[in-house]
Amino acid sequence: MLEISLHVLDIVNNSVKAGADLIGITICEDKQQNLLSIDITDNGCGMDEAFLRSVTDPFKTTRTTRKVGMGLSLFKSAAEATGGSLSIASEKGKGTSVHVRFVYDHIDRQPLGDMAQTITTVLSGNPSIDFLYRHTVDGKEFLLDTHEIRQILGDVELSQPEIIVWLVDYITEGLQEISQSA
Ligand SMILES: Nc1ncnc2c1ncn2[C@@H]1O[C@H](COP(=O)(O)OP(=O)(O)O)[C@@H](O)[C@H]1O
Ligand SMILES: [Mg+2]
Repeated sequence: MLEISLHVLDIVNNSVKAGADLIGITICEDKQQNLLSIDITDNGCGMDEAFLRSVTDPFKTTRTTRKVGMGLSLFKSAAEATGGSLSIASEKGKGTSVHVRFVYDHIDRQPLGDMAQTITTVLSGNPSIDFLYRHTVDGKEFLLDTHEIRQILGDVELSQPEIIVWLVDYITEGLQEISQSA
């Protein structure tokens, strides 16, 4: 994987497959601490302890289309290549949260990628799931809550082409704003 946003897409898709109806995506860029952290939290089916212990092993997967699960183990390797880490907390029947830390200025850290496109893709592809996307850069915050947006839109679907265009712009501008140094 070349960009962190693609790992995020994969991990969010795990939450979707786990039947979650609420997914939180939190990205925190902290240059002072030299840390980029990503948290993805869901209220899906969760995993039992034994499965959880082995889940970052690439040969662990419940998918039947191919024999190896890739998402979590690839993300873990990418984080560890920078001196970072990936950890998972999960409870059967309650949900899962994946916590990833990258060393921000490490030469091998993948670029974040296009988060506006990634978030818009998962939002528009999953109309029955609520997403809470929170992104901070050195303490400045951008927040997107689909529950709020849907209340404003009323009958208009998030998957409508003009809404998709609007969402990409809205997120892109929001991220630009928090990325500008004071
Ligand atoms: N958020 C989650 N909730 C419940 N189970 C999960 C979650 N994320 C991953 N899993 C379980 O871990 C397995 C491995 O995930 P992953 O590494 O992304 O590989 P893949 O999705 O290709 O199977 C999945 O098949 C699934 O059984
Ligand atoms: Mg996966």
